Amino acid sequence: MIHYLRSLMKKILSLSILSANLSNIHKEIKMLNNSKADCIHVDIMDSMFVPNISFGITVLKYVKKYAKKPLYLHLMILEPERYIQRIKKLGVDCIYVHYEACGRNLHRTISLIKETDIKAGVAINPHTPVNMLQNVIKELDIVLLMGVNPGFGGQEIIEHIYQKLYDTKDLILKKRSPALIEIDGGISWKNASYLLDKGADILTLGTTILGF
Ligand code: DX5
Ligand code: ZN
Repeated sequence: MIHYLRSLMKKILSLSILSANLSNIHKEIKMLNNSKADCIHVDIMDSMFVPNISFGITVLKYVKKYAKKPLYLHLMILEPERYIQRIKKLGVDCIYVHYEACGRNLHRTISLIKETDIKAGVAINPHTPVNMLQNVIKELDIVLLMGVNPGFGGQEIIEHIYQKLYDTKDLILKKRSPALIEIDGGISWKNASYLLDKGADILTLGTTILGF
């Protein structure tokens, strides 16, 4: 199936290890290394920003040790700026922070990520209008639109994502931003090609491909 999706995509395919069997992380990462994915999406949750806990920096070190593909790190934690320096030292390729988790100092946090050669992404929850990013979108490498409320894999996509994709494309053009658009959460075989047709550049899938 992943070969089928790959053949539809000239874009970026990212697989989330949240849905993998984390009791054998080495084996799962080997499988991702041998897959057609372009990068590995790593979800970090703190139980404060989202009602769930995944894992922290100790496990992330193992992921980094075994991964042969770029690591894209999705921080679903409050005040993520507290961890940026430590995470950068591990050698990830992209860090996403949530607009809702660092509202007061978002621009500073983006600058902190970009100081070295790491891509900066900002994720927005389903309830957040993309217009909230209008003053930072030029600095971003990726705008990540959550297709579900963050915290869990295996949820249904929220329908207004399609309108939001359109609004994001519009804002990117208006502001002449280089940002790519990513959709994370709720992507199925049914909606993947539609999202790509409508302008998504990166799709992150978990359950549909790795469902454990
Ligand atoms: C949700 C996570 C997603 C999730 C995607 O909080 O940010 O990355 O792992 O999983 P699926 O594809 O199962 O929605
Ligand atoms: Zn994610």
